[in-house]
Parts: sequence; structure tokens; C-alpha cells
Amino acid sequence: MCGITGYIGEHTSSAVLKTGLQNLEYRGYDSAGIALVGDELQVYKQQGTIDGLSIPTTETATHGIGHTRWSTHGEPTDENAHPHTDCSGDVAVVHNGIISNYDDLKQELGGHLFESETDTEVIPHLIEEELTAGADLRAAVMRALTRLEGSFAIAVTHVEYDGIVAARQDSPLVIGHGDEGMYLGSDVTAFVEYTQQVSYLEDGDVAHIDATGMTVFNDGERVTRSVQTVDWDATAAGKAGHDHYMHKEIHEQPTALRQAISGRIDELAGHATLEVDLRDAFLESIDEIHIVACGTSYHAGLYAKELFEPLTDVSVRVDLASEYRVHDGHDTQRTLVIAVTQSGETADTLTAIRQAKSCGMTTLAITNTVGSTITREVDDALFIKAGPEIGVAATKTFVSQVTILALFGTYLSRLRGTLAAGDAADLLANIRQLPSAVQIVLDAESQIQRLASQYADSEAFFFIGRALGYPVALESALKLKEISYAHAEGFAAGELKHGPLALVTEDTPVIALLNSGAIADQTRTNVKEVEARGGPVVGLTTTGQPDSFCRHTIEIPELGRLEPLVSNVALQLFAYHVANELGRSIDKPRNLAKSVTVE
Ligand code: G6P
Repeated sequence: MCGITGYIGEHTSSAVLKTGLQNLEYRGYDSAGIALVGDELQVYKQQGTIDGLSIPTTETATHGIGHTRWSTHGEPTDENAHPHTDCSGDVAVVHNGIISNYDDLKQELGGHLFESETDTEVIPHLIEEELTAGADLRAAVMRALTRLEGSFAIAVTHVEYDGIVAARQDSPLVIGHGDEGMYLGSDVTAFVEYTQQVSYLEDGDVAHIDATGMTVFNDGERVTRSVQTVDWDATAAGKAGHDHYMHKEIHEQPTALRQAISGRIDELAGHATLEVDLRDAFLESIDEIHIVACGTSYHAGLYAKELFEPLTDVSVRVDLASEYRVHDGHDTQRTLVIAVTQSGETADTLTAIRQAKSCGMTTLAITNTVGSTITREVDDALFIKAGPEIGVAATKTFVSQVTILALFGTYLSRLRGTLAAGDAADLLANIRQLPSAVQIVLDAESQIQRLASQYADSEAFFFIGRALGYPVALESALKLKEISYAHAEGFAAGELKHGPLALVTEDTPVIALLNSGAIADQTRTNVKEVEARGGPVVGLTTTGQPDSFCRHTIEIPELGRLEPLVSNVALQLFAYHVANELGRSIDKPRNLAKSVTVE
């Protein structure tokens, strides 16, 4: 939600911190700020993006902290921007998360001077009280933390302290170990151009970081946090010549898919070889799977349900994580709960998983982010290996999530003996062909761009599909509304006539999923209903089978039950080019953030 950076070392810290904030801007971009420690503590902060933040070129401090904000408490103003300071201006704090008891704390801190509407501002004042009582900065932070309720990652500096104190509780923080100093970030992207050696903090950790290393404490005891090497570098996190991260990430899908699949299919034996740690006996015993997720990941879950059900005898339920409830009488011992989450940090998804665990259910995460909070909380995790995704609107991670879920479906059904060898071979063959099918669609971008430019100014866009086409309709509408702000809705094709058809006019293009796996014949009836009312239809059809009822067709390579997934790539390009025509802020759409760490 918000992004935190920190640096102490030989470089000019303002430059390192600013780069870090630019890299983290996808986490929030309402306001930004930096606190630098030199002879005195200097805070530079303002509403707007990090590019607008001006720091004097004479500023040569060698340590400091930074923040890019996605507002929760208080509007995005200069005053509400982080860092926040205490009454003396000696302590500066940046924070990601929510302090739920901040109202009570603010009252308890009656004599203190508050300048913002944020929950964060109580933290520097609590620290100030402990410092006044004689504690050093680390002890003062530790004592202040005992009074906070909620979720947080914080970084703290003090004018007389040669270091940074960082702490986490339910919000991510990573420390980078470089040759020329130590780094802090909400995620590795913050500092990956400087170092790939990282340590992930755990809940309850308080770390002291100075130019030579880190010391970590948990529950008052000194603890060790291992140093790991991340397997991607700054090139993977750059734009590589594309105008937008989203465009780059759409085009990275063949590579992301190859990474997801690599080593996970046994060609000779013809089955998936996933690195699942859950016991076979448990997987053989389950009779229900609950998939919980938000946004695009939820749509990946819906696609997986359609794939799973013909493969296995397990019933699959897909819930929006924020709507997940477990009712009494449910056989929790025979249920597997799968959380699908790109970031591994989405608060709603974490809450759903915690609820499942508290009921005794076994949990599995499908995620892109090694070291994320969810990986520490679930019983097992499978990584989609898509590489960093920076554009706020998820693209490459969707196709990779579905692919790993598909592999898991075949893994499970083989274990349970419910999958005919021929069916497994067909799906695995489709998975292997997926990267090249996606590439064929990417190569047809100019046709999709022309369509986008023809319809960019439409009043509204409707996406319709059945079976495997329905989650793609939902996902494509979400993509378009996220980045173009156009009114876009996804409907089950059969439902069109039960209400939404009233919205169809000549100015509302309807995009229809007419692929294999999407019960196209019945959807054609709905296409005719739209065309009869003058609505222009764009049909996604199997190559070689153009549909005469559609005003336009986009041909998708034949790919069995994964064909609608390939259509989704074409519709990502459609959304991208509509948004580009309309001049939208594609990588940082208004009001949104990539990682949403509040409920
Ligand atoms: C935010 C993002 C969406 C994303 C959703 C779930 O809302 O803007 O693009 O799909 O979170 O994120 P997750 O990291 O859990 O997949």
C-alpha cells in the first residue's frame, strides 16, 4: 500500500532513497517524503509523486528514510505525507499499515503537538516520550511498539543516532546487504540495483541497521535472519524500452510462463512434478477446496475452478477473500484452502487464510513473492516465478497463476486417481504450448491496437463469456476499468438477456469470448441479440473459425481449455491501447495501489 525505503552507507542517501521511492511508487503515489540525518534532521515531503519532490543538491547526508503513500487516514496533503516527526523534530518515522488504536493514543499523548490527520503521527510522539524517559532509540522504539495495535512496518531515524531502526508487524520489510551500505525496503525492488543480498524481517522483529550490518531482535532476544540472494536483478525491474511497465509485462508473458512451467512437467511420465510439501495422504483425503483471493487473483481462482472440476472429484469453491466465512459444521480436516496472491501481502487474503487456519484447515499459497507474509503463514507455498510485476494492473501474473493452478489440478487428480491419462496429457500439452500461443497473440498487437483506437471513446464496454470464458470476461472488464476508467462490465453471457441487454446501444461494444472451452455455440445466440440491437461485437474465436455474426474477430490459436486464457492476453492489449488512446496514467491508475495491505 505504502512504500518504505531506508539507506545508510557511502552513497549520497538522498539519491538512493529517491531511486528507491521511484521503484516503489507502484505501492502508492499520493504523496512522498524523505528524512535525512546530517548535522540536523531534515524532512522533505509533499503531495504528489516522487518526481515532484525537490531535495537541495547540497544535501549529502549518508543516511535517511523515505516513503511513498497511498492514503488511508487523511487526504493526500503535504501535512499528511510521511515522514512524521515528534515535537522536537529530532525523530522521524515512516509507516506502512494501520494503527487501529491511534485515536486512544492521541488522547493519551495530550500535551503533544500533532500536525497531520494520520494514524502514523502517534508513533514519533510515543518514541519521544520513551527517549525523554532515558531510553536509547532502539529501546524507545521497542517500548513504543508495545502500545500499538494494528499492522505496521516502520522505519525510524533520530538526529543523534547513527543508524536506522526498523520494525514489522503484519506488513513487509526487507533489508538489503550491499558493499557500499545497508538498504531497507517494503520489497526488494526498492534497492535491487544496489544489491541482491537480502534478509526478510519477520513479525515482531525490530532491527538496528548501520553502515556495516544489521542486528535483529524479537521479543527482546537477539535473533538471526538469513541472507538470501534474489534471483532477478534491476533489468527485470526496468521498462526495457517499453513506454509502460504494463506493456512490458504483457509482452513478458511467454517468458514468465516458461519460468513457471520449467522443471514442473515430467515429459516421459506425462504428469506434473510440482514441489508440493503437503502430505499425499492429506491430499488424497480432502473433499473440498476453497480458493480465496482478490482482484485479478480471484479471477485466476475462478478459471482454476472450471479447470479443476472435470479433473478431480473434489468440489471447489472460490471466494472473494474479503467475503470468506467458514460456517459451523464444515469438515475442516478435509478441506484445503488455497490463497492466490501475486504480492503475498494483500490484507483481505491474509485475513481469510488466518480464519481458515484458526478453524484447523490446511492452507496453500500460490504467489509470486518469495519471503512475503503469506508464505510465512501457510502450510505450503507454490511460486509462480513470473518475475517482478510493477504495473498496478496485474497482467503476467494472472496467466502464471492459472498455469500453476492447472498443474496443481493435474497433480492432485493423478494422486487421487481421478484423471484419465489422455486428459492429463491433453492439458499438459496445452500448458506446454501456452507460451507460443501467447506469443502469436502478442505478434498480432497492431490489429488489436486498431480496434482499441476505433472504440476508445465508447460509452461503455461489456465482456461476455461462458464456462472458461466467464472469468476472462470478468478479468478483461476489470483490466479496462482499472487503467482506462471506462465503464466496463463482465457478464456471464447467458445473463445478458436478464438485464444488462438494456444497456446495449450502438455505442457500447460487446466483447464476446467464443473460444474452445467457453461453450461458444450458446454464446453466439447472445451475440446475435446484441447485433440485433446495433451493438458492435468483437468476437474472440479459434483461429480459422471467424464468426460471421461478429462485426470484428480476433483469432486465437486453438488451445483446448487454455484458449480463453490466451484470449485474455489479447484483451489486456485492448485495455492497454484504449487507456493509451485516452492518455491515462497506465502504470499508476488513479486511486489504486498494487499491494493493498489494509482490509
Ligand atoms: C490490488 C491490485 C490488483 C490485484 C489485487 C490482489 O487491488 O490493484 O491488481 O489483483 O490487489 O492482489 P494480490 O497481490 O493479492 O494478487
